[in-house]
Amino acid sequence: MKHLLTLENMTREWWDKLHAKTLDIMAHPEQYAESCKGKLLATLFFEPSTRTRFSFQAAMLRLGGTIFGFDDPATSSTAKGESLADTIRVVASFADIIAIRSPNAGDAELAAKYSGVPVINAGDGAHLHPTQTLADLTTIAIRRGSICNFKIGIAGDLKYGRTVRALVTALAAFPGIEYVLISPPGLDIPRDVLEFMDSRGLKYSQTRDLEAAIPDLDIIYMTRIQKERFAVPELYDKLKGSYILTAETLRRAKPDALIMHPLPRVDEISEDVDADPRAAYFDQVRYGMYARMSLILSLIS
Ligand code: NCD
Repeated sequence: MKHLLTLENMTREWWDKLHAKTLDIMAHPEQYAESCKGKLLATLFFEPSTRTRFSFQAAMLRLGGTIFGFDDPATSSTAKGESLADTIRVVASFADIIAIRSPNAGDAELAAKYSGVPVINAGDGAHLHPTQTLADLTTIAIRRGSICNFKIGIAGDLKYGRTVRALVTALAAFPGIEYVLISPPGLDIPRDVLEFMDSRGLKYSQTRDLEAAIPDLDIIYMTRIQKERFAVPELYDKLKGSYILTAETLRRAKPDALIMHPLPRVDEISEDVDADPRAAYFDQVRYGMYARMSLILSLIS
C-alpha cells in the first residue's frame, strides 16, 4: 500500500517522476479529466483549512473523481468518542483514497496503519505537511528552472510550523542548498530538525535578523506564527508581528529572489508586496493543486 506521510526519504527519482506528471497535467489537463472516474477521495479535516482541503477536492474533481468528507469533526462520529482507527476503517471501506488533517502529530501515520486505501498526510499537528512541500517544490522548480544551488531564508515560526519541517527534510534530496533559519526567541527550529540537517551535511545558519539576511537570499520563505499551538496566549501576543515583509524591505532583496509563503498570512507579508513579480505565494496555491493531482494519480493507479 502506497501512502504519502512524509517526504523525509524522498528520492530524486520519485520527485522527478511526480513533477514530470505535474507538468504534463498542467499542459494537457483535458487528457486527465477522466483519469479518476469512479474513484472517491475522502477529505477528513479535524483542523481548519481553506487551501489544502479545497486543493485536494479540486484536484480530485479535475481528475474526474468524486469527493466526500468533513471539515468539522463535530459533525462526525469523533464527537461521539469514536477512535481515529475506527473512523479510518469505516471511511476506507467507502473511499479509494484518504487525505487527513489532524491537530495531532503522528495521526496520519496511525491512519495509514488502519486504512485499506492510500492515506495522504494533509498536516499532522506541528509535525509535517508534505503536500504543501510538493506545492513549494513545484513552485521553485517552475519559477527557478531547477531545485538546486540557492540560498533559502525560512522565517517565522520554525518551532511549530509543519511546513518548515516538511520543506527542510524534502530539500535535503537536492544539491547546493544553503539555509538561513530566521526565528524570534522561543520559536527556533526544533533540535531534531537540526540533527537531521547535520546528519545530511546541510549547510545552515541561524539568526533573528530577517532584514540583515534579505540581500543574500534567493528564496525568502515566510511563515505564520502558529497561534493555535501556543499553550500560553500571552506568548503568542508577544511574538506576533515578529517579521513583516514590506515593499520597502524588499528593495534590498535580489532582483530575481522568490518570495514564498504557504499561506494563510496574517501580517507576515504586507499587501504592497503582492504586485511584486518576485511574489510567488499565489503560484504555490495554483501549482499545489496540480501537484496534488499528480500525487493522487501516483497513489491510486
Ligand atoms: C499551513 C498549515 O496548515 O500548516 N497552511 C497550509 O496548509 N497552506 C500553514 C499555516 O497554517 O500557517
